Amino acid sequence: MSQPSQPKPRVPPEVRARIEAFKKIREQEKMIEENMKKIRFKIAILSGKGGVGKSFVTASLAFALSYLGKRVGVLDADIYGPSIPKMMGVQGQPVLATGEGRLIPVTAPLGVKVLSIGLMLPGEDVPVIWRGAMTTSAIREMLAYADWGELDYLLIDLPPGTGDEQLTIVQLIKDMTGAIIVTIPSDVSRVVVAKAINFCKKLNLNILGIIENMSYFVCPDGSKHYIFGEGAGRRIAEQYGIDFLGEIPIDPRISRANDRGEPFFVKYPDSPASKAMIELARKVIEKVEGGQG
Ligand SMILES: Nc1ncnc2c1ncn2[C@@H]1O[C@H](COP(=O)(O)OP(=O)(O)O)[C@@H](O)[C@H]1O
Ligand SMILES: [Mg+2]
Repeated sequence: MSQPSQPKPRVPPEVRARIEAFKKIREQEKMIEENMKKIRFKIAILSGKGGVGKSFVTASLAFALSYLGKRVGVLDADIYGPSIPKMMGVQGQPVLATGEGRLIPVTAPLGVKVLSIGLMLPGEDVPVIWRGAMTTSAIREMLAYADWGELDYLLIDLPPGTGDEQLTIVQLIKDMTGAIIVTIPSDVSRVVVAKAINFCKKLNLNILGIIENMSYFVCPDGSKHYIFGEGAGRRIAEQYGIDFLGEIPIDPRISRANDRGEPFFVKYPDSPASKAMIELARKVIEKVEGGQG
């Protein structure tokens, strides 16, 4: 005998929408996990504040790793100030989407793959005016839909500071290899570096080391000048028991190349700054690959 059918409980549309949104997030998280399995090492590059050359260091480290034979990708997670496309010489190249909606990163010199919100905006001077929730979902979508293929290294250029976006990335990439902190040698930067260190510690993110950028300037007569102070990066590394990975000198050609959209490392491979980057890349490889070869 058939039972009289029970009336189905009515799910209000706003609740249904929320359930759908939640399902989508779970789906994206699974896609991120799958993507990340194909990438051996994932390194977040962070700094307590902007303007210390974090993006320049990310771009150059990526080129240097590739120069040393690694398969490298760069994710520019600085939604509000994406400068990676210009620094890596790919500004204006379109990010193509496959039929399945996967995003194909563009290819920079030395074969480095690049994905940035800056490549998906209609123009270089178009600002992103979003609230926090939108930037976190943009980051999650980039991580989920990007088709990096197999990589040895993915470097993630985080926006300055220790807020929403940084937290999102660290939580979404569960097997993050570690973080590199970029600073300049001034004493005021010590406080912000300490914040970045504590951010990593709170999130159990392994700190691979500190890189000091803009360490000194060498005059044409060979004299060395410590414009922003001397040794703060090394001192703070010692204070916190973190590795000091090295220093990169000031070179006016860096800023000029970056402004023109020419990748400095590729244009001036024999400059002291590029040589320092290769040494840094070697240290990073040694640190994360150690015995793994
Ligand atoms: N070692 C350096 N020597 C000279 N200029 C540099 C150096 N590192 C970075 N710059 C310049 O400093 C500015 C800030 O660098 P950027 O990488 O955008 O910093 P961040 O990502 O930390 O905000 C850029 O104009 C860049 O070209
Ligand atoms: Mg930057």
